[in-house]
Amino acid sequence: MPTQYLLDPTWHAERDRLNSLTQLYDPGTMALIERLDLPPGARCAEIGAGTGSVAELLARHVGPGGQVLAVDTDTRFLAPLADATITVARQDVTATPLPPGQFDLIHARLLLEHLPQRDNVLASLAQGLAPGGWLLVEDLDWATAEVIDPPSPTYTRVTSACREFMRSRGYDPEYARRLPRCLTAAGLTDVGAQAVAVQVRADATHGIPQWELLVEQLAPGLLAGGWIDQADLGSFTALCRDSDSVIFAPLMISSWARRA
Ligand SMILES: C[S@@+](CC[C@H](N)C(=O)[O-])C[C@H]1O[C@@H](n2cnc3c(N)ncnc32)[C@H](O)[C@@H]1O
Repeated sequence: MPTQYLLDPTWHAERDRLNSLTQLYDPGTMALIERLDLPPGARCAEIGAGTGSVAELLARHVGPGGQVLAVDTDTRFLAPLADATITVARQDVTATPLPPGQFDLIHARLLLEHLPQRDNVLASLAQGLAPGGWLLVEDLDWATAEVIDPPSPTYTRVTSACREFMRSRGYDPEYARRLPRCLTAAGLTDVGAQAVAVQVRADATHGIPQWELLVEQLAPGLLAGGWIDQADLGSFTALCRDSDSVIFAPLMISSWARRA
């Protein structure tokens, strides 16, 4: 199945990595969705659904009369969630569009930034909306990714190596800031956006899993390409466990718009 997504869903700690992200971002996502005022029995699509945490929250939100389609190229975490409200679809959105005109809400978080075909995929998601339906897209902008106190050259080196390594593999670390413009270009109206940089404290026991598990998964490529060396990796892990460190995660930019 063609996908070009650079992270490996079969990596041994991928579930933990995704869980670390959902814990950080699910409350903000649901607060935005609650403001969108969906109709009773809303039909929703959760694209690049990952662990399905948002699909489950959406199912609770729309109630028994509603529907949630959870789409991912890899449905290993989603399959157990299928029930009367949640339908799981193994589908590559770069190859197969959603059925047109069907959804009251389409949500995609931490997906389009990864896909080189992001402009086409965004246009096809917009086509999937029913009249009045909302598209909510959330991606990271790395503008705040190097913010740490106290300052640390190691942190700056490793985070910027990750950003540039991922960029070389089709990732766009500045896509999120363009979302309002892209939603307008897709023919949608009532465009809005917010940007939030969550503060994350280093932790002597748990470290900073959002960073450490990304760096660990990318480490073979980062080391082989000379982006960082083994000493950088060791110092980065130590830093994530030094409870004096305060960092700000990359900016989560959430942008929404509706079909007229
Ligand atoms: C970084 S994870 C984000 C998961 C979830 N949206 C969240 O925010 O917790 C990206 C997800 O998109 C899925 N994905 C990647 N490429 C895809 C594609 N072309 N079509 C559908 N899903 C895709 C991956 O398998 C993965 O589950």
